[in-house]
Amino acid sequence: MDQPTVHTPPPGPKSEALLARASATMHRSFGADQAVPFVLDHKEGWFLYDVDGNTYLDLVTGWGSTPLGARHPDIETAVVEGWRRYCLENTDYVMAEPLVELADRLIAIAPSGLARVSYDVSGTEAVETALKLMREATGRPFVIAFHGQYHGESYIGQSLSAQRSDFTPRLRHLTPGVLHVPFPHPFRCPFRHGPEGCDGTCVVDYIEQHLTFHVVAPAEIAGVFMEPILGEGGVLVPPDPFWPALADLCDRNDWLLCLDEVETGFGRTGTMFAAEHWGVEPDLMCLAKAMSGGGLPIAAVMMTDAVATAAKAVNTGGTWAGQPAAALGTLATLDVYERDGILDHVLELESIAEEHLRPLEALDTVGEVRVKGLYIAIDFVLDPTSRRRAPHLATAVHRRCVREGIVGIEDGVSHYRVLPALNMPVELFRRAMETIARATIAVDRERSSK
Ligand SMILES: Cc1ncc(COP(=O)(O)O)c(C=O)c1O
Repeated sequence: MDQPTVHTPPPGPKSEALLARASATMHRSFGADQAVPFVLDHKEGWFLYDVDGNTYLDLVTGWGSTPLGARHPDIETAVVEGWRRYCLENTDYVMAEPLVELADRLIAIAPSGLARVSYDVSGTEAVETALKLMREATGRPFVIAFHGQYHGESYIGQSLSAQRSDFTPRLRHLTPGVLHVPFPHPFRCPFRHGPEGCDGTCVVDYIEQHLTFHVVAPAEIAGVFMEPILGEGGVLVPPDPFWPALADLCDRNDWLLCLDEVETGFGRTGTMFAAEHWGVEPDLMCLAKAMSGGGLPIAAVMMTDAVATAAKAVNTGGTWAGQPAAALGTLATLDVYERDGILDHVLELESIAEEHLRPLEALDTVGEVRVKGLYIAIDFVLDPTSRRRAPHLATAVHRRCVREGIVGIEDGVSHYRVLPALNMPVELFRRAMETIARATIAVDRERSSK
């Protein structure tokens, strides 16, 4: 098996030339400030190969969209045969059998109550669809979302998101109707600092005692839009007591609960869907990314019968929403998960991540290590008392790791994160965790010696 090997420090000459051309012809998002300093030649399995002949271990997996590594043979066969048979089709006009099969399969594995499916192409579109459905089903304009969440780059996606205020310049005023509250998590909880600490119910109290008392009446709110585990915001897992308190609040106010499982769905956190960790039964759920096992883009919104009926007037879908070949990729993905015990493997790798990364919490620059399945983040701080964010330290760790052949995520917020393939071999994964731990210690030492 390949191993990560960086012979030519990135960017090598070919990468450098291509990156220069990209920055001359593309918007900044694509062309400049590339956090990854090389250009991809090809990818295969758990590796990325750059145009300068370097080999990297891929801990980004297309931001979670190749959960079985790149070009898994079962997925490749399913989507190629699917494309030969169906090519591209507009399935909200001409239905095809794989979409019917997939709806049944999703309903069988989803949290109970989700009984209908609408297809989309991307996570962002699934988010847009879900919000339309919530507003139409309730006849209410407002929705509650949480600080740190990310829901995509469209206007609605960005207005629901609240990663960093300077990530959304001049967008918020154009899409009103979102009420943001702190994400329920003890690490930077603005409400409870005392010995009792935060158990997440403080956020529910805040919504009830402050937000809906002073700002917007409950009867104007369609519901709550939430990532069950905050991903881009640093892998924050809500404390257990938050969930029953939230369910009670939703029940009392006739609010819908929509879970955005675009990143957590399909095994990322060790269960098929993150909602399962607490037995949460949402009214709507957004899916995308890992859904077709790296086959072709596909996304979905699942909803209860009640939501589907109340929002019947809303049009969903679109030309590319629900491609039959992509649906076959999803069906093959679910088969591989079952056959190869992927969820058990995630738990095995989770314990290796714990073993290598948890001890880093002893460093002054590491605020918290977060591991839930293979949803993994290190939150860097300027100092352990203030817990002020230190994005430059996450960047420094990322750069060191890339030089050692490990490609992860630095997010510009304060986290170094990884989204490894769920079927990564144990020894490769261990090597990656060791490299990240070494890089974190080196960055911490460099900082203390300044
Ligand atoms: C939780 C969540 N929702 C929505 C999206 C947007 O999905 P996409 O990039 O497929 O449009 C993302 C992407 O990272 C995400 O993490």
